[in-house]
Amino acid sequence: MKSLPILENAFLALEDGVVVAYGPMEDWGGITDWRDLEIIDADGKFVLPAFCDAHTHTVFAKSREEEFVDRINGLTYEEIALKGGGILNSARRLADMTEDELYDQACARVEKLKSYGTGALEIKSGYGLSVEAELKMLRVIKRLKESAGITIKATFLGAHAFPKEFKENHRGYIDLIINEMLPKIAEEKLADYIDVFCERNYFSLEEMEEILLAGAKYGLIPKVHVNQFTVMGGIKKAIELGALSVDHLEEIDEADIEALKNSNCMPTLLPSCSHFINIPYGNARLMIDSGLPLALASDFNPGTTPSGNLGFVWSLACVKMKMTPEEALNALTVNAAYAMGLSETHGKIALGSKTPILITKEIPSLAYIPYAFGDQHIERIIA
Ligand code: NIG
Ligand code: FE
Repeated sequence: MKSLPILENAFLALEDGVVVAYGPMEDWGGITDWRDLEIIDADGKFVLPAFCDAHTHTVFAKSREEEFVDRINGLTYEEIALKGGGILNSARRLADMTEDELYDQACARVEKLKSYGTGALEIKSGYGLSVEAELKMLRVIKRLKESAGITIKATFLGAHAFPKEFKENHRGYIDLIINEMLPKIAEEKLADYIDVFCERNYFSLEEMEEILLAGAKYGLIPKVHVNQFTVMGGIKKAIELGALSVDHLEEIDEADIEALKNSNCMPTLLPSCSHFINIPYGNARLMIDSGLPLALASDFNPGTTPSGNLGFVWSLACVKMKMTPEEALNALTVNAAYAMGLSETHGKIALGSKTPILITKEIPSLAYIPYAFGDQHIERIIA
């Protein structure tokens, strides 16, 4: 995590988006046979692999600042959800919107994320909670995949919350997910991954297992919400079920760390969620010092993280979780690419890689980016 190879006074050559050469400026002369070369002078700037955001809810209906004010006035996230706010609030609003309206809003958000330096994006469903509305969200994500100009991965999160009418009938909603939603999603090839919000008042360990096993029949690999508020064994269970990543982990115990050590699963922390709803930060130091890798993501969503700015996530990781700037950049790039199945192509500058590239503004050092928080340090993204 700590090692970040940096070349100073270097060049980087891209052809059709593929890294075809890089090295110290002295070696530049080796490339003589290129005509019509576009040259970008990056003097005083940094050239980095673009960020990969491996956990977002970028498709949603409306902002929820009234819940933000409720929390200022003393309510907790859990209390707001119990009185009908939270995920169910977003689901009510999304039900009324057309696919086109949702798509137009999401497009604008994706453009903004790109300007912050995001060069690959995972997006979840989960504000539909009915067959129609979940499909509507996933179709929007499919359209974004085609139009966004960056790689997008889709995750089916039908198991985000129990809709009101299924509050006392969990069996009924899980049957709907397994028998109605999953077959249609598979038929239209709408999802790459499957997620469950495993948490008190949401989905139990057993419910998560049943849903993930049903997803596996369609080849959907789990990336799950676990340990946001409660330690309930979700990490170990998700690993057993082949999860590519386990996300949130604000609460974690020794057994969870042991389970992660013996796995290929990427723990993914979401510090801007901790910041915004005032909950503990994931214990990044304990995890890294135990020998684990980490990814960082934004969790961009209208309830717990109304910002998809990974520059801010970088800063929070350093200030609140004591990650070094280099560790945090690795967590936002190479490890985040792994957490969304893009290791081959994204998150690192290597010969033959097709990763989107960032060019920063003129800055004195790499650490200046998380240090001068709130400023926009990214000048352009080449995706
Ligand atoms: O990752 N924890 C579950 N899901 C989202 C929040 C959803 C919402 O409040 O709209 C999260 O924090
Ligand atoms: Fe989330």
